[in-house]
Amino acid sequence: MTAASPLAADAPEILLAPFSPDHLTGALRLSRETGWPHRAVDWELTLSVSQGVVALQGNEVVGTALCSLFGEVAAINMIIVDARMRGRGLGRKLMQAVLEIGGTRELRLTATADGLPLYEKLGFEATGEIFQHQGIAKAAAPELPVQVGAKADAAELAAMDRAASGMDRATLIAGIADRGELLRAEGGFALLREFGRGRVLGPVVAQDAATARALIAAGATRCAGQFLRVDLADAALAAHAEALGLAYVGGGTAMKKAARAAAETDFTTYALASQALG
Ligand SMILES: CC(C)(COP(=O)(O)OP(=O)(O)OC[C@H]1O[C@@H](n2cnc3c(N)ncnc32)[C@H](O)[C@@H]1OP(=O)(O)O)[C@@H](O)C(=O)NCCC(=O)NCCS
Repeated sequence: MTAASPLAADAPEILLAPFSPDHLTGALRLSRETGWPHRAVDWELTLSVSQGVVALQGNEVVGTALCSLFGEVAAINMIIVDARMRGRGLGRKLMQAVLEIGGTRELRLTATADGLPLYEKLGFEATGEIFQHQGIAKAAAPELPVQVGAKADAAELAAMDRAASGMDRATLIAGIADRGELLRAEGGFALLREFGRGRVLGPVVAQDAATARALIAAGATRCAGQFLRVDLADAALAAHAEALGLAYVGGGTAMKKAARAAAETDFTTYALASQALG
């Protein structure tokens, strides 16, 4: 990436505006410059379940922030400030705007190292780590039966996802299932879709780690020889992912603000739909 050019002294004032589909091209420029792999369709999927704001300098998008309302939970995501304008309070302003959209809900996000100090200052607390694994997937026989390409019962998937995550995100789950492929096991499911440099497997929702391992092996087998990413919420699955060709490449810190007590549940989210959406 080339160094960002300095701002002109007479640059127009920066204003916040509601995020609309018209801002996607500018938003995509920002995420690319930040080194994130999102394609336009990845932004579109996230925006389809979100509200948010952009920072505009004239017509140029120089900052983004989204808030996805999932029932009692709001996922804050896609917080980006143009590299030329960081360190001047714009990130904090964008965050304040999306925190207002989140209102009194439990607020969640996955923080990068860049974002962590800002989120801590705004009252978010770390609750865990996310482990991003990716690479050219290798086939391996799942330890339990998995049906690949199963027909989705959207309501059933949304119920399992809600039990695992506490988030009401039936529209998102149905949207991912429509775009991608369902992998179904006796005690859970996973969704596979195009994302970034190839495909992503997530969410992976299961009653136990053995089912999650089988779903991930089936996903890797489906993508054998091709690029696959999985954002694990459980470090215990790391060695399994590595054996499937999916190397650890970094991750993020899961954070919450105004956290509610989690309900008793049979399901766990072993891998995220995305770092943005949890
Ligand atoms: C994270 C990001 C949005 C912050 O934007 P920004 O405009 O530079 O943030 P601000 O200038 O509003 O700074 C916010 C606060 O964090 C503090 N801060 C920022 N970086 C810090 C650091 N490395 N150490 C300590 N404090 C830091 C600032 O001092 C400021 O505190 P204050 O409001 O009390 O003065 C920006 O760095 C960015 O776009 N990074 C790349 C994309 C990214 O990783 N986004 C986060 C996704 S989770």
